[in-house]
Amino acid sequence: MTSNHFGKLADGRETTLFILKNRNGRSVSITNLGAALVSIIVPDRNKVMADVLLGHEDAQGYVDDNSYLGFIVGRYGNRIGKGKFSLDGKAYQLGLNDGENHLHGGKDGFNRKLWKAAINASSAVESVTMHCSSPDGEEGYPGKVVLDVTYSWNDNDELTIDYTGTTDAPTILNPTSHGYFNLTGDPNNTILDHELMIAADQFTPSVAGMIPSGKILSVEGTPLDFRSSRRIGDTINDPYDQLQLAGGYDHNWVLRNYDKTLHQAATVYEPKSGRSMEVLTDQPGIQFYTGNFLDGSLKGKGGIAYRYRSALCLETQHFPDSPNQPKFPSVILRPGETYRQTTKYRFSART
Ligand code: GLA
Repeated sequence: MTSNHFGKLADGRETTLFILKNRNGRSVSITNLGAALVSIIVPDRNKVMADVLLGHEDAQGYVDDNSYLGFIVGRYGNRIGKGKFSLDGKAYQLGLNDGENHLHGGKDGFNRKLWKAAINASSAVESVTMHCSSPDGEEGYPGKVVLDVTYSWNDNDELTIDYTGTTDAPTILNPTSHGYFNLTGDPNNTILDHELMIAADQFTPSVAGMIPSGKILSVEGTPLDFRSSRRIGDTINDPYDQLQLAGGYDHNWVLRNYDKTLHQAATVYEPKSGRSMEVLTDQPGIQFYTGNFLDGSLKGKGGIAYRYRSALCLETQHFPDSPNQPKFPSVILRPGETYRQTTKYRFSART
């Protein structure tokens, strides 16, 4: 593993970039600022290496970012309606940073923290653990939460992200990794030609503000049916109310066979390069987002403008607004319990 300076924050603190390399020379890099994934460099079918992740060149890029490129988001990945929820009969008001709603942990979420990094020298594969602590009351959440996120990169080009979290008072916790992928390796291309499979028969429809209505609907007969792999661009502009509401795909799918063990959640394939990415998780949901808010104003690595639909996100998590939806799996964490999540992104190339 190599670690490099990644730039100073305004208050003088140094940030670091950790580069995890496997035996085949493929690499993943992560910064301790927001515990963000910065790059994933993997081969296409002709063994040509390219970076399949959107990101920034240095810490300042992440400080200025409002699109959550690669960050670990939390305490709550995705939205909580009006930022309100009740727990054990007590009402809480979270910070509002997405219109009248709370998104991705609020304006001072996990993505704004400088995490404490530890290289796992005894691990059989390259691995680094990021540690952060969120004080009681931060962004309105109860309880002091501590979270460890371990990134491991093995010789099979599998990136594993393991989370463990604890609290000292009853709270809610639902972090996720917000990587933006473009398997062509060139974010000047859109992701419309990528082919996607999502292992889900149902999704949670949204109402205005992208808050779940609380219903769970079948994907059958809708443009959200990705049970068999197919081209994303074929249906993204369909005149379907859910797509119009979100300006494309930006929804939560209810993963099949949720039992808290690792299952295949999604597979993306990009036909020109042959690159493929499988997503496995032990979480109940996956947010598939097609970069509908990217508009070219955000410039990333190499000064490239990140345009509309130039990347896709597959965020493994609990469903949005779960604290207000009794039918959704629980996101409550109590003292003495441990929050756990394991998600794997597995890269390969088809000939
Ligand atoms: C998630 C949300 C989107 C958007 C992005 C970040 O994927 O569902 O609506 O907020 O994060 O821009």
